[in-house]
Amino acid sequence: MTTFLELAQSRYSVRKYSDKPVEKEKLEQILKAAQAAPTACNYQPWRVSVLQSPEAIAKVRGVTRYAFNAPVVLLICANMDESWVGPDGHYAAPTDAAIVITHMMMEAWDLGIGSCWVRGFNKNDISRAFGLPDNLEPVAFLPLGYPAEGSHPAKGWHDKRKSLEETVEWL
Ligand SMILES: Cc1cc2nc3c(=O)[nH]c(=O)nc-3n(C[C@H](O)[C@H](O)[C@H](O)COP(=O)(O)O)c2cc1C
Repeated sequence: MTTFLELAQSRYSVRKYSDKPVEKEKLEQILKAAQAAPTACNYQPWRVSVLQSPEAIAKVRGVTRYAFNAPVVLLICANMDESWVGPDGHYAAPTDAAIVITHMMMEAWDLGIGSCWVRGFNKNDISRAFGLPDNLEPVAFLPLGYPAEGSHPAKGWHDKRKSLEETVEWL
């Protein structure tokens, strides 16, 4: 049995996908992992669009060059109207959406499905292309699909991790 740490350490951003379609049941399982994510005050201020029709995929390709050749792309938005707002004015919705995305990435990987977190876009282009209301803030695209044969972690990116000494302090 794979431990969570093994799963997390084996995941990498997939940027080359096979033609094999992603089964609906697996997409549903990935969405259930999203549903299980914690959110501030349990407000669940996130929305996911499952983009897979040729028209929807063409729209994605029109607003980012990082959809690669994924057969399915999720668009994850933070609903700012439903956000918990801290006493200092902090809106938690984008953080909540980020946790949801992480859950989906890891569930997908557990199912053998690759993904890549994508923020390489102008959010105004997305709002226009998908007709999003002002309260929906695009947080990321998540291309999903089975890794192509020969897909591998990007050298100089995936393999470069700061040491725990650099990133963690013990007080
Ligand atoms: C917030 C965020 C934005 C990212 N945006 C992009 C992107 O637009 N295009 C892309 O190819 N990868 C993108 N990535 C993937 C990172 O480049 C990648 O996670 C990092 O290089 C580590 O590699 P790994 O995921 O293979 O371990 C993004 C990741 C995060 C967390």
